Amino acid sequence: MTHTLLSPMDMHVHLRDEAMLKCVAPLSAQSFSAAIVMPNLVPPITTIEALKAYHGRILEAMGEMIFEPLMTLFFKSDYTRAFLEEASLYIKALKLYPSGITTNSEGGVASMDIETLRPVLEVMSDLGLILCVHGETNGFVMDREKEFCSIYESLASAFPRLKIVMEHITTKESVALLDKYENLYATITLHHLLITLDDVAGGMLKPHLFCKPIAKRYEDREALLQVSLKAHPKVMFGSDSAPHPVHKKECCGCAAGVFTAPIALQALTELFHKHHMLANLQAFVSNNAQTIYGYKPPFKEISLVKIPYDVPHSYGDVIPMFAGEQLAWSLK
Ligand code: NCD
Ligand code: ZN
Repeated sequence: MTHTLLSPMDMHVHLRDEAMLKCVAPLSAQSFSAAIVMPNLVPPITTIEALKAYHGRILEAMGEMIFEPLMTLFFKSDYTRAFLEEASLYIKALKLYPSGITTNSEGGVASMDIETLRPVLEVMSDLGLILCVHGETNGFVMDREKEFCSIYESLASAFPRLKIVMEHITTKESVALLDKYENLYATITLHHLLITLDDVAGGMLKPHLFCKPIAKRYEDREALLQVSLKAHPKVMFGSDSAPHPVHKKECCGCAAGVFTAPIALQALTELFHKHHMLANLQAFVSNNAQTIYGYKPPFKEISLVKIPYDVPHSYGDVIPMFAGEQLAWSLK
């Protein structure tokens, strides 16, 4: 049995830099035709020079593989119109992080006050740039995303021409916002479709499943699963594949991030097949994103075959989700 996907895309990925970039970039290119690349390097991507240089390093790491990295800029509330006009030639979106909320987000915004954000968000609306948001407060870890929903609502109402992507949503409350505001969209990861907090910390602690936002409750996972399986037109696949070297995961003070890039399509195919929804996978992994972003990815056919795939124990010094386990589908 074979299932073919046309130009699948990953609308939220961390490709990192240097040796890690060289290790993980080809793994994304094996499965995807394009991806939205996160800007949270150290230091984050905040200048045109850094943007162009990083784009160049990604292309170099891809070699001959067909893959378009769609660049993003790290949101700062003091960017000028002139700067954003120039940047808009090179980027699809800006990524907003509340300061300190996740890996390498220290330079993010100190406050989500609408008036402070207004000048940049007005210009972004004018230029048709998309706002990608890591939507968590600094409250109790299980409530952070839910508490952020009122901020999503304020942003969506205050900037009706701005397309806002709620990144890697994990709660039923975020799912509900999709049908409430025309300009709110979402990415959903593989791991949040598969796990709950029980898998992370309910038994022995699983550092390789620890990420931000943390996996939530069964009812949250179910809400994510329902909109994904039906390929709700406002949701897109975004892996949030976030590799960290093994010594940063298997230690006291584990870095947040699940590495899924090399296994994502295989596991998604298995999941959609199990639910008899394979026909909707194309929209979830490509067509919806093309419409939302107004973007046509390079043509690429990716075929999956129902032959077991033994997931490697590691790729370089990164441990993937399902390391050492078997998935039901492989890349052809
Ligand atoms: C991401 C990372 O490691 O850069 N970590 C994560 O847990 N998802 C950052 C992020 O997207 O929050
Ligand atoms: Zn991320």
